[in-house]
Amino acid sequence: MNPLISSAAGPLKGTCAVPGDKSISHRALMLGALAVGESRVSGLLEGEDVLATAAALRALGATVERGDDGVWRVQGVGVGGLAEPDAVLDLGNSGTAVRLLAGICASQGFTTFMTGDRSLCRRPMGRIIEPLERMGAQFVARSGGRLPFALIGAAHPLPIEYRLPMPSAQVKSAVLLAGLNAPGETRVVEPAPSRDHTERMLRLFGAQVSVEAEAEGGSVIAVAGYPELEPCTLTVPGDPSAAAFPLAAALIVPGSDLVIRNVGVNPSRIGLLETLRDMGAAIEMDSMREEAGEPVADIAVRAGPLRAVEVPAERAPRMIDEYPILSVVAACAEGTTRLNGLAELRVKESDRLGATAAGLRAAGVSVTERDDGLDIVGRGGPLPGGGLVATQLDHRIAMAFLTLGMASEKPMTVDDGSMIATSYPGFVADMNALGACIATH
Ligand code: S3P
Repeated sequence: MNPLISSAAGPLKGTCAVPGDKSISHRALMLGALAVGESRVSGLLEGEDVLATAAALRALGATVERGDDGVWRVQGVGVGGLAEPDAVLDLGNSGTAVRLLAGICASQGFTTFMTGDRSLCRRPMGRIIEPLERMGAQFVARSGGRLPFALIGAAHPLPIEYRLPMPSAQVKSAVLLAGLNAPGETRVVEPAPSRDHTERMLRLFGAQVSVEAEAEGGSVIAVAGYPELEPCTLTVPGDPSAAAFPLAAALIVPGSDLVIRNVGVNPSRIGLLETLRDMGAAIEMDSMREEAGEPVADIAVRAGPLRAVEVPAERAPRMIDEYPILSVVAACAEGTTRLNGLAELRVKESDRLGATAAGLRAAGVSVTERDDGLDIVGRGGPLPGGGLVATQLDHRIAMAFLTLGMASEKPMTVDDGSMIATSYPGFVADMNALGACIATH
């Protein structure tokens, strides 16, 4: 346990940058391992989640190394060239690592054992087991489709068409990645758009991916099997889900004026920016450019009054990881903010709906928790603070409530900040450099 305490911060001023995007970092290593030859990845997120993926890919036979220049070099073995690992793959806290790697291993004719930490072993894996079994893989999982599981990959995988029962980029990606080592075309029908990093990166590595509109308003994503993926040299954009914390801090700490450089602004990830603008936030995107097939920008943000909003359920997939920090901003806004369509938050690294509501209450904020939403009564200014938050092995709960402490009258404590290292190892140092006051408790 590593308890941390966050006290009122001075205005955040100047320019900062955030680490590489977690989703894109996982995918860059995975596709590098499936290409033929050496890929080079700069700006990789060196957080525990991505390091777990790197270790798993090594165990599967790819060479994955960090050079002294900070560039990661991956020697890929081709889409069908991975080898059976000698030991259990431990994916730590990372849902993306286990679900996407299970997709890759599902169409390789060997057996893999996978596990994770206490949080990951509670999360539902039935959502990938079902489609991957249709492709011919077999799983022996703990009851309720939980980790640890054994995965017997299909020696002769079948391409499928799979309609996602929930908006999940991880499930979509698992099926598409399995389809790389299957004949014909593997198709995923997505009723509502979720992050499309896998599709973009598959194209970057030379796979054939098509996206077409479907009759019921969704889209059909198809990948052609057995491509020869070409190695790539790429730079990972900054993570918008990490940028959300300094961004929110700058909005709620009076007098702040901040520029966050080099942030990924993929349309499937910027629901938070849309919502904050609806709340009246002064946010501008500048120097739009492209990096690794993804749109990137510098984001300028200034503190100012914010008003409550109702966030529509259909926006949830575009800001799924940002609800804890949005809830903190909403607590500082004028009026009651209503967040809808959040059932999926219950199966993240923690039950994020419950953990967010409990954290807000600990900070003296009035909140109603519904089955799939929250109503947060904003205080239109600084929060009382002074509470202790149970992070439940969830990095985003820890970072959200340390950010809240920056704008509260009494300091906020989180019981364990160690999980922050999964996605943003430099969080405390970066925030303190900007004017925060976060210390070991
Ligand atoms: C991710 C997809 C999302 C997100 C997670 C990363 C990805 O999960 O919450 O942090 O990289 O594909 P779901 O697919 O479960 O919505």
